[in-house]
Amino acid sequence: MCQDNAVLSRRPPEGPLVTSVADTTVTPSLSLAMREGSRAEHEAAENSTFMSELLDGKLNADAYAALLLRLHRVYDALEAAVREQAADPLVAAVHDAALERLAAIEADLTHWAPGTDPAGVDSPAASAYATRLRAAGEWGGLLVAHHYTRYLGDLSGGQVIGRILTRTFDLPEGVGVAFYEFPGIPKPKPYKDAYRARLDDLGLDAAGIEAVVAEVKVAFNLNQALFAELSADIEDYRRLDS
Ligand code: HEM
Repeated sequence: MCQDNAVLSRRPPEGPLVTSVADTTVTPSLSLAMREGSRAEHEAAENSTFMSELLDGKLNADAYAALLLRLHRVYDALEAAVREQAADPLVAAVHDAALERLAAIEADLTHWAPGTDPAGVDSPAASAYATRLRAAGEWGGLLVAHHYTRYLGDLSGGQVIGRILTRTFDLPEGVGVAFYEFPGIPKPKPYKDAYRARLDDLGLDAAGIEAVVAEVKVAFNLNQALFAELSADIEDYRRLDS
């Protein structure tokens, strides 16, 4: 039987999806479902020991280097997966080279961890995250969930984090915070609004929305696992003067 690719790409993987609203005529907004569905996970990420202490200026430069080395592994896998699936209509709706972070992370690493190969860093959490990202290629909606979780976060709280790092580490202008700078996106707010509008225009049914939201939660939990891994070494990362 001949299958239309566009139709296939709108179909979530088989599984125990909750379809409680599938029989109503009102399809909820995907972007709202993603935000509301991950509210608790977002709060947990904001309150994680590692992020809280980093943003309170209590951690040293080794701490941020350790985070950035792990994020290199994550974005390497995310951006490769997105490029591979760029023709998928769901992925195409969010794919934008202006968001890509790998080159910015590499530039920042020359300041935070010069000469360290991110691939050589022992991080079960980063490996698990990268493995999940590679598997997400099986349905475009899963990759969209990961894309949203990282890039909309980077365009939101990330801006504040960049300013805090500059202050905490007394960074010279333009050094070490390229990760938080989006030269191709001068105004994050309208960009995020347009991004959410494109999500809502995808036309996913209730089951598809459930599947994407479930993967957003997975993505948040993978980030939380990165923070938990880093928290295990928190004593090594505390600033002596804090
Ligand atoms: C201490 C850490 C964090 C802070 C202070 C923070 C802060 C924020 C703020 C203020 C917003 C709302 C921006 C707006 O209304 O336009 C936001 C949105 C967002 N954050 Fe975070 N965040 C943090 C951590 C994270 C993490 C670890 C992730 C995931 C990896 C994340 C993912 C997101 C996403 C996806 C959004 C967009 C929500 C939406 O509008 O749909 N955040 N964040």
